[in-house]
Amino acid sequence: MRLLYQLNAAFTAIIIIIMSLTAFFVYSLLMDLLVQDELRQLEGRAEVLRNIANEQNPSERVAQLSQFIQDSNFPIVLFDRYGEEVLFSTLPAETAQKWVENYDGDLIEEEVWEGHQGESYVVYDLGFAPSRSGMILVIATPLDDLQVVQAIFAQRMTGVFFIGLMLAIIMGYFLTRKLVTPLTRLKQEVKKIEKRQFSQVQPVKSSGEIKEVEQSVRQMAHELERYITSQKQFFQNASHELKTPLMSIQGYAEGIRDGVFEKDAADKGLTVIVSETERLKKIVNEMILLAKLDSDEDVYHPQATNVIDVITQAKDRLVPLAKERDIELRLESDGAFHTFVDRERILQALINMIGNGIRHANHEVILLSYVEGDSLRILVTDDGDGIPEELLPQLFERFIKGKQGETGLGLAISRAIVQRSGGTIQAYNNKGQNGATFEMKLSKRMSSLRSDIIEEGNDSRKKERDDNGS
Ligand SMILES: Nc1ncnc2c1ncn2[C@@H]1O[C@H](COP(=O)(O)OP(=O)(O)OP(=O)(O)O)[C@@H](O)[C@H]1O
Ligand SMILES: [Mg+2]
Repeated sequence: MRLLYQLNAAFTAIIIIIMSLTAFFVYSLLMDLLVQDELRQLEGRAEVLRNIANEQNPSERVAQLSQFIQDSNFPIVLFDRYGEEVLFSTLPAETAQKWVENYDGDLIEEEVWEGHQGESYVVYDLGFAPSRSGMILVIATPLDDLQVVQAIFAQRMTGVFFIGLMLAIIMGYFLTRKLVTPLTRLKQEVKKIEKRQFSQVQPVKSSGEIKEVEQSVRQMAHELERYITSQKQFFQNASHELKTPLMSIQGYAEGIRDGVFEKDAADKGLTVIVSETERLKKIVNEMILLAKLDSDEDVYHPQATNVIDVITQAKDRLVPLAKERDIELRLESDGAFHTFVDRERILQALINMIGNGIRHANHEVILLSYVEGDSLRILVTDDGDGIPEELLPQLFERFIKGKQGETGLGLAISRAIVQRSGGTIQAYNNKGQNGATFEMKLSKRMSSLRSDIIEEGNDSRKKERDDNGS
């Protein structure tokens, strides 16, 4: 069943239950209220009767009393309580007799008395002075009269009930429609995402939690689109990177086989084949490493590391390259910064960054590191031409490279390593001067890596046990 109908059905059911309960209570309370009201009126009449009874002149008293009884069309019974004798009654004799007999039994406590045919009366009874005489005057109103009033009330209440119910159902329908419509629209937008029609995804007018879901869905669509585009680009770039050396290998190999290249040319061809094969091997190895860093495979082994030592080591490794290119390599750092990272992998990430700097610098590359709160910031700044603007947004993607680039995997690997280390990496062109800066930030608290360390510890202990056992 559609959500709109479900909500409407639930809403209607709740309204009917609430209205029925209210009607039931009001209806049953109404009779009590009518009886109480009638009793008050009877009391008023009894007061008039009392005044007549207190009249001094007996002839006037009788005249007034008979006038009062004639004027009023309500039943009156006068009886002798002790003699159990009806003295006067405007009711059927059986009813009057029944009341006389049962008066001292239970009727004295009741407000509603029953007649001899089962009909009911609201009654007010009063003793006539002197009270010792046992004279009781009962004035009554048939309950039928009150039941007529109650029935009219019930009729009207049912009318109001239905009008109210109709209005509530109509309002409920519009309210639930307002609530459900954004969900239906959102479903249509999600269908577009399912069909990968990302550009056609439209914002849905909504509020509250639905708005939050809508924003998440659009963000998800955006992320998915970005991911699919980058995957496509990755496959295109990867096949291109692999195809170029393969074609060159194939060209030389066929040339040598067919005798097109001979002697020196054949030697040169073989050298190219070997170096291109090396290059292919490097690309494939780096792609495998990236895939492993992305998944949770066992290629990252964190240990307590002084990162400043690692920076110094990276610099030492790159001094020959800097010398070869006549670039001054300066390191400005002090103290120590201990954290839990894979020393070798961080070294690899730094070598990628510094190596790029040296290749793109004109005169110098500066390595600067300093502690800031709980983090260590490492800046690699060069004075080259800077990063081409069009490369900046996707610089850390696989196979993204500039004109003088090599494979375009270095920065992708650096980012994967830094992310596994719980840090961040970013690149920007220097403001007001030439060159680019690459910034790596590592944090001191690497609690997420502790599980890796514990697992690693367990693994090494297990290995020890195995070794001892064998
Ligand atoms: N310091 C820099 N200054 C200017 N451009 C840079 C700098 N560092 C990187 N780049 C640009 O970013 C691109 C990607 O760098 P990345 O290290 O990922 O690949 P690569 O150096 O071309 O190849 P490799 O995979 O061998 O590292 C480079 O090709 C280059 O165009
Ligand atoms: Mg590089």
